[in-house]
Amino acid sequence: MADVVLSVSGLKKAIGRRTIIHDITFDVMAGEVFGFLGPNGAGKTTTIRMLVGLASADGGEIRIGGISLFDRFPDAIRQVGCIVENPEMYKFMTGRENLEHFARMSGDVTAERIEEVIRFVELTHAIDDKVKTYSLGMRQRLGIAQALLHRPRLLILDEPTNGLDPAGIRELRRFIRRLAEEEGLAVFISSHLLSEIEMMCDRVAIIDKGRVISVGAVNTLMAQFADRVEWTFAPDACARAVEVLRTLSFVQEVWPSVEGKVKCRMDTERIAEANQALVEAGVPVLGIAARTVTLEDLFLTLTGGGADRETQHVGARPE
Ligand SMILES: Nc1ncnc2c1ncn2[C@@H]1O[C@H](COP(=O)(O)OP(=O)(O)OP(=O)(O)O)[C@@H](O)[C@H]1O
Ligand SMILES: [Mg+2]
Repeated sequence: MADVVLSVSGLKKAIGRRTIIHDITFDVMAGEVFGFLGPNGAGKTTTIRMLVGLASADGGEIRIGGISLFDRFPDAIRQVGCIVENPEMYKFMTGRENLEHFARMSGDVTAERIEEVIRFVELTHAIDDKVKTYSLGMRQRLGIAQALLHRPRLLILDEPTNGLDPAGIRELRRFIRRLAEEEGLAVFISSHLLSEIEMMCDRVAIIDKGRVISVGAVNTLMAQFADRVEWTFAPDACARAVEVLRTLSFVQEVWPSVEGKVKCRMDTERIAEANQALVEAGVPVLGIAARTVTLEDLFLTLTGGGADRETQHVGARPE
């Protein structure tokens, strides 16, 4: 039986008269990196603030290691390390002084543990420099070190890659994978970028307008939507190209788009085969582009066309 570290069910939150979190339900297991994916304003930060007790909930349940956060807050929160929005650090102190300061505040953290987390986040070389000299990536890592000091079972990070360059993102990804795989932590990460979630996470909950619209393995999700190929032909060859593509068993859907372009859904590993079939049928291929799925595509599919995105009622009139 998988070890559920974080269990959230039917979570709700209203601010004033407006409900911003309607119904959030998901579980996060030990040893997995779980993504919380949604566009700006979907309710990611609000949910995370409730998970760590920075905001109250108006319904539902949050359990950490089986303990109710609402009934036994200190016992539940002791198992959590988190960074909400930005890591808070004293810039005029060194990295080590910051960690020592937080260690004193949280109580039972040994000097050995401080050394251990410094090594883990690979900040040994810079730990005695002032934080104001750190790059954003280094600050982020110091933040994670701080969040790990008290050996949490669950690490919560709100949009941890914001502002990082590609190298910084790669580093962070490596760390997060190690935390889950080697240390067995449950890691919960929010993001508005599908590509990031795809690279970092095992499972994902997709949220929109305060509701979970899909939960599942990242691979399964991507397989459902991935692999769109756009072909370019001479305009008068398009009709014939569509016919040929439709005869191929591994091509799922074919539709002409703009003049000279035909799109299809297919396994991109079989592009060469499709290309050969077209050429053999006397249809010269002028261009091939494999397109990766965007978060926008996912939403359009999952929300059935994404119609009423603008129709939410903000500031409804009092009764
Ligand atoms: N204190 C508040 N008062 C009123 N509305 C709020 C408050 N906090 C958040 N909201 C609203 O709740 C919704 C969800 O906000 P939240 O910050 O949780 O989204 P998010 O998914 O974290 O977005 P982002 O990707 O921009 O960080 C938004 O529509 C926001 O305007
Ligand atoms: Mg946010």
